[in-house]
Amino acid sequence: MKAIGSVKEDLSIEKRVSITPDNVKKFTNLGFSINIEKKYGEHLGIDDNVYKKNGANINYSKEEVFKKSDIILKVNCVSVDEVNLIKNKSILIAQFDPNANQDVINKLIKNEVKIFSLNLLPRITRAQSMDVLSSQANLAGYKAVIESFSKFEKAIPMMMTAAGTVPAAKVLVVGAGVAGLQAIATAKRMGAIVFATDVRMAAKEQVESLGGKFLTVEGSQNLETKEGYAKETSEDFKKKQEELLNETLKKIDIVICTALIPGKKAPLIIKENMIKNMKAGSLIYDLAAAQGGNAAFTEVDKIIDKNGVKIIGEK
Ligand code: NAI
Repeated sequence: MKAIGSVKEDLSIEKRVSITPDNVKKFTNLGFSINIEKKYGEHLGIDDNVYKKNGANINYSKEEVFKKSDIILKVNCVSVDEVNLIKNKSILIAQFDPNANQDVINKLIKNEVKIFSLNLLPRITRAQSMDVLSSQANLAGYKAVIESFSKFEKAIPMMMTAAGTVPAAKVLVVGAGVAGLQAIATAKRMGAIVFATDVRMAAKEQVESLGGKFLTVEGSQNLETKEGYAKETSEDFKKKQEELLNETLKKIDIVICTALIPGKKAPLIIKENMIKNMKAGSLIYDLAAAQGGNAAFTEVDKIIDKNGVKIIGEK
């Protein structure tokens, strides 16, 4: 019988688990045995006994899990310490970032560990149920709206009262992929006026179908790869995009940044001079923070205040 194992993630950056109690049942029904580390789901309120009841073996240490398992499931890449514990020739299924985990990946290859990187899975219809990027980007886009709106000090929808009218907040979404489209839909539902921009022309129709106004960079070509991702922009494009956004940002209350280019540092789109021109009280929620950020001053997991404009770097 093949054994599947999973150990706790680095809880300072990751709260998700790879195996839920329901998964344990599914895997054992398929003939696998399951090994998890003690207190595996405790931070989510899931007691070891719930896993045990569904058929998992609770192990007292990471070492034990790695030793007993042929297949390791993780949300993120194994750490430098864990790489020394994983058995040669075992299977490791997780998300890998070659920019951040190069040394660990080289070591895994040297130890003949078979690596399956879920973030490199083709995003085709057949593989949709395993698409870790889409499901999480969807949630991230939703959460970006909820969190940024809760930090905004004014009202979001237009409020007409006998005492006067408060205009609706204006939101700009930079990057209209999976996270961006969810952010647009959520912000619209909450009563904001929504603008969005992207380098892929296919995004225009999608933004408009959600009730957003698409901001097209004048004279730009469609910067889309055949896989549907963004290409890096030219200097000329960057200049034109800057002109467009500079003017737009003066009237925007909340910016939600989601622009990414696979395998590369996130493009810097909201520059220092643009932030200087924004209204005090407005805010930027940068979902691209971990990849370097779309906005100047972004720092992961920090709120930076620049002349009354808050720049929030999402973890
Ligand atoms: P992503 O997370 O790599 O990038 C987010 C967005 O930022 C993209 O729309 C990209 O065009 C945009 N962007 C990049 N640089 C920019 C810049 N300088 N200025 C403005 N915007 C910029 O992309 P994501 O969200 O993962 O989706 C990319 C594509 O993959 C989309 O076309 C989506 O429809 C497609 N997709 C297809 C799936 C399928 O099952 N067929 C599943 C999920 C996504």
